[in-house]
Amino acid sequence: MFKWYEEAKSIAERDPAARSVWQVIFQYPGYKALRMHRLAHWFQKRGFYFIARGISQHARHKTGIEIHPGAKIGKCLFMDHGMGIVIGETAEIGDYCTIYHGVTLGGTGKDKGKRHPTIGNNVLISAGAKILGPMKIGDNAKIGANAVVLAEVESDTTVVGVPGRAVKRAGERIRQSFELDQIHVPDPVSQEFCKMRIEIERLRSELSEYEKSLSNLKNSLSPDLEAKSKESTEPKQDEE
Ligand SMILES: CC(C)(COP(=O)(O)OP(=O)(O)OC[C@H]1O[C@@H](n2cnc3c(N)ncnc32)[C@H](O)[C@@H]1OP(=O)(O)O)[C@@H](O)C(=O)NCCC(=O)NCCS
Repeated sequence: MFKWYEEAKSIAERDPAARSVWQVIFQYPGYKALRMHRLAHWFQKRGFYFIARGISQHARHKTGIEIHPGAKIGKCLFMDHGMGIVIGETAEIGDYCTIYHGVTLGGTGKDKGKRHPTIGNNVLISAGAKILGPMKIGDNAKIGANAVVLAEVESDTTVVGVPGRAVKRAGERIRQSFELDQIHVPDPVSQEFCKMRIEIERLRSELSEYEKSLSNLKNSLSPDLEAKSKESTEPKQDEE
């Protein structure tokens, strides 16, 4: 099967709105931009920068998608709607990724050389998301709509918000440290009781130490006195 047909077929399979593979080939701007990028990249790799840039700009006018000819794009990228997508020169995209309109794979302006992100396989980048910098986005990651991602994203992770924060990993919700746990709240009354019990135990052991040392002292000062005091405390059998 031709590569171009395989790519169109994979898009048709992933888009519930697609009616046929031929519709994707002739009427999907994302698909057109991808085909033109393959050509532009071919010229770029061979040093024909002017022609490469010309093709890229032509694709931009036709589709509203701007992909630098130097960007490396894997198999079967699906750019849904497409308008406003910008993909920078040193960006790399893995296989079977989906990118919606308004996405930027850009640089922060602080890096030199590799300035744009590296996207893994099967990554979803939602509408309006911005991924800025030369970091990696792991396989199967999902970037939420309008998120601004400035740091590396682990595989199988969902990132949302500005700046992007991980909210799910491998289907499990990630609990943020600042969130209040409404269920496992500590009980202040039982905590006070615990403290009091510990204090009573401490006082008891201290008291028994004092009692021991007092009786030792009495013994050493006057053994007779101690015996007498014991006798006086014991009940007399005769009297009964
Ligand atoms: C991120 C997204 C792909 C969902 O991924 P998911 O792994 O299934 O995550 P969930 O839907 O379970 O959401 C997880 C949490 O993130 C929140 N969240 C999801 N998307 C968000 C977004 N774009 N911005 C802020 N928070 C978001 C959810 O409210 C949820 O929060 P909660 O756990 O406090 O309830 C999806 O929300 C999204 O942004 N889709 C947009 C797709 C798009 O661009 N469509 C355009 C078609 S034209």
